[in-house]
Amino acid sequence: MDKKQIIALLNKDLEDEHGAIGQYLSHAYAMGEGEMAYEIEAIAREEMRHLDWLAEKIVELGGQPSLERGHMIMGGQSVKQWMENDVRLETGAVEQYRQHIGLIEDKGIKRLLERILSDEESHRTDFGKFVQEAQEGGIKDLRGSHSDDVIKALNWGIEHEYTVILQYLFQSYMTTNREAKKQFEDQAVNEMQHLGWLAEKIVGRKGSPVMKHKEVDTSTDLVHGLKADVKIERQVAEAYEKYAAAADDPGVKRLLLRLRDHELYHVDVFSNLLMEEQFKREEDEEEE
Ligand SMILES: [Fe+2]
Ligand SMILES: [Fe+2]
Ligand SMILES: [Fe+2]
Repeated sequence: MDKKQIIALLNKDLEDEHGAIGQYLSHAYAMGEGEMAYEIEAIAREEMRHLDWLAEKIVELGGQPSLERGHMIMGGQSVKQWMENDVRLETGAVEQYRQHIGLIEDKGIKRLLERILSDEESHRTDFGKFVQEAQEGGIKDLRGSHSDDVIKALNWGIEHEYTVILQYLFQSYMTTNREAKKQFEDQAVNEMQHLGWLAEKIVGRKGSPVMKHKEVDTSTDLVHGLKADVKIERQVAEAYEKYAAAADDPGVKRLLLRLRDHELYHVDVFSNLLMEEQFKREEDEEEE
């Protein structure tokens, strides 16, 4: 098996991790606060680590991590049925990792996939328990079909946050600049928090979070990427401020202003990195 084929297999795994994260977070947010939602979010965080490891390995092999979202099993009439879907998704992951471990000869990659496989087996067991607990605990879908301007604004926020999570993760995987890599990772984690807070507010208002994203800037040139980041952060800070002014609910207002402040901080972080990188390039040119 050549490098290109290995990259393709790992990207398939990565896309399915992305799908699993989307599926589990959707379930956790819809259930509101509680022990089970918390545990499901913890599983989603483990899938994020898998996604990270796979992306790093793909880049090491000379490939680019895919941004497509892979297999998901959505639908189901009750939390119990969702948990059954999650068991099914994990069963599929276990089978796929076993298959890929059999196909790939590289010992290091095999070890990585075996490490991930052991997590998926444990997740499958966890979701199996949740099937029981969802029924016994009477855990319900707290979402509603309510829609108003505030819910629309919050869902606009989710769409933005999802987009920049992917953008900053991609940039963190592709850059060789250590400081930039660290900042991209940190800000991506911060945007994940934003997404969770927005979803929580939507469910609190009896609406439904919509997990979709806009086009992601995938330029691999650091200066170009940082310019795109500064631009999108400025836009979102302005939008959150506008939506905060229009929001009727003080809790939502507070959240949107807090997000605005975070995004303004992101503008600073990315602007500084951009200046440093541009300065470095000018110096390099002078030396030549
Ligand atoms: Fe899993
Ligand atoms: Fe954000
Ligand atoms: Fe941001």
